[in-house]
Amino acid sequence: MTERYAVIGNPIAHSRSPAIHAQFARQTGQDISYERLLAPLDGFVATVDAFRAAGGRGLNVTVPFKLQAFDYAQRRSARAQAAGAVNTLAFDADGVFGDNTDGVGMVRDISGRLGVSLAGCRVLLAGAGGAARGVLLPLLEAGVASLLIANRTAKRALELAAHAGDSRVRGCGFDALGRERRVTPFDLLVNATSAGLDDAAPPVPDACYRGARLAYDMVYGPRPTLFMRRAAELGCERVSDGLGMLVEQAAESFHLWRGVRPATAPVLQRLRAEIAGA
Ligand code: ATR
Repeated sequence: MTERYAVIGNPIAHSRSPAIHAQFARQTGQDISYERLLAPLDGFVATVDAFRAAGGRGLNVTVPFKLQAFDYAQRRSARAQAAGAVNTLAFDADGVFGDNTDGVGMVRDISGRLGVSLAGCRVLLAGAGGAARGVLLPLLEAGVASLLIANRTAKRALELAAHAGDSRVRGCGFDALGRERRVTPFDLLVNATSAGLDDAAPPVPDACYRGARLAYDMVYGPRPTLFMRRAAELGCERVSDGLGMLVEQAAESFHLWRGVRPATAPVLQRLRAEIAGA
C-alpha cells in the first residue's frame, strides 16, 4: 500500500522536496507518495495531527515550523537536540520521532561530492542563527580542528560557541575578525547567514578567504551568491552553494523513513539543470 509523506511549511509552493523524493522513490522502488502541505501560521499542530490521522508516515519540516516540530516530537535524535530544531518527523507505533538532517547533509556534500576532508579542517562559520546552530555538531563530529563562529551580533556568536561546549569552538564579531593583525588561515568558510537573500555577503575580511580550500554557501539559487563570487575572486580553490546540501538532507530523511539510501548525484544534476533554466 502506498505510504504518505509530505513537506510542511508556509509558504510551500516552491519547495523542491516533492520532486527530489519522487526521484528517490523511483530509483529505489519504494511505493510512497510525497506532497506539499501548507499549514496556516497558527495551525502547525492541527495540520500535522490531521496528516497523521489520515495515515501519514512522515514529514519534512521547513520555514517557519522547525522549532514547533522540535516541540511536537516525543523522541529526538542527538543531532536534533543539538540543533534545537527538527526538519524530519517520523510517525510509527512508538509515537513521533524528530530528527535534523540539515547538518549531516552539508557534511556529506562537502566531504563526498566536493571531496574536501573535514578532519583537521580550520573552519570559519559566518552566522549564529538557526542555520549555523544546525551544522555545528555534524562539523565537530566530522573532526574539524577548529571552528570560529563570526557573527554581525557578536553576542550571539559567543553564546552559540558557549552552547557548543567544545574547546575547538570560539565566537566573535565580524569586526573582531578584521582587527586581528594576522588572520588565522582557514581551510573552509561556511556562510550560514541569510545575507545572500538580499544579495549581500557577510562582512568577512578579504584575508580570511585567501588560501581556503572551499567557500560553501548554505543557500542556493540560479546564480552564484555574492559570498561565492567574492570567495572565487579572492582565490578560494572551490566555491559551492547549498543545493547539494538540500539533496543530501533529503536523502538522509528518506533513509530514516524507508531504510534505504538513494543515489544523490543524478538527482542533484537534474535539479541543478532545472534551477539554471528557471
Ligand atoms: P537562520 O535560521 O536562517 O539562521 P536567523 O536565526 O534569523 O535565521 O539568523 C540569521 C543569521 O544571518 C544571523 O546570524 C544574522 O546575524 P545577526 O545575528 O547579527 O542578526 C545573519 N544576517 C542576516 N542578514 C545579514 C547581513 N546582511 N549581514 C550579515 N549577517 C546577516
